[in-house]
Amino acid sequence: MDDLIKQAAGDLAAACNVVALTGAGISTESGIPPFRGKGGLWEKFDPMEIAHIDAFMKDPARVWNLLVKEMKAIVDTARPNDGHKGLAKLEQMGKLKTVITQNIDGLHQAAGNTDVIEFHGNFAWQRCMDCSQKYETRQVDISQIPPRCRCGGILRPDAVFFGEMIPQDAMWRSKQAASDCDLMLVVGTSAVVQPAALMPLFAKETGAKIIEINPEETPLTVEVSDYLIKGRAGEVMNQILQELKPAI
Ligand code: OAD
Repeated sequence: MDDLIKQAAGDLAAACNVVALTGAGISTESGIPPFRGKGGLWEKFDPMEIAHIDAFMKDPARVWNLLVKEMKAIVDTARPNDGHKGLAKLEQMGKLKTVITQNIDGLHQAAGNTDVIEFHGNFAWQRCMDCSQKYETRQVDISQIPPRCRCGGILRPDAVFFGEMIPQDAMWRSKQAASDCDLMLVVGTSAVVQPAALMPLFAKETGAKIIEINPEETPLTVEVSDYLIKGRAGEVMNQILQELKPAI
């Protein structure tokens, strides 16, 4: 592990254009549960029953009650942890250019990263399904479920449900960032959801180094990643940054 931390610090010191791909694992240390694995949301719920656009269209109140209300309570109070802060420091050092995140919690921006591509949209806003008016999630009155727009339409998270397209701009910019980088940090993602999990492949194809930070192996570990640093994002980022300081 120590050797891998040193290796990662060395690789980061040598890199000029670093991109991070992040997933739910980076936010677990902020108290937000992941989707898969122990304690994950999909242990409690079938995603097709609760996070698919068809499920929302069929019964918005049910999805609001089972999923969206709980997420609102968690995301409203969550704060960035050392994993998010570490990526923000890498940007301040001039290393990290872009964060591609599958998370909808806004914690990378809260930590200070300025170029964050929200691959699955974000939870900061709710959107009217009739007139597309947006409302800040924190301000939405949830005394009535589902909450409604002034026009009477139902509000939905401005995030991507299963069965929906990735926002075109996010898709295009992510592909570009992945193809242009010389090092990709893949942090806290199970890398099983497409097309997000393709980004490390695009990076690899153009010669970038791929470093994974995750307590577990993923489908990328053997085929794509140069190495996996097994551990929690916050702890590993702190160790890398400590090692990196003298190196740059
Ligand atoms: P997952 O829940 O699938 O995977 C979380 C990953 O984080 C796992 O590989 C864990 O081993 C790892 N992990 C857990 N704690 C960690 C920690 N402290 N530090 C680092 N890694 C840790 O989450 P995602 O890969 O983000 O999509 O899932 C991708 C998509 O599936 C989500 O964006 C969501 C979901 O269904 C939509 O809602 C469209």
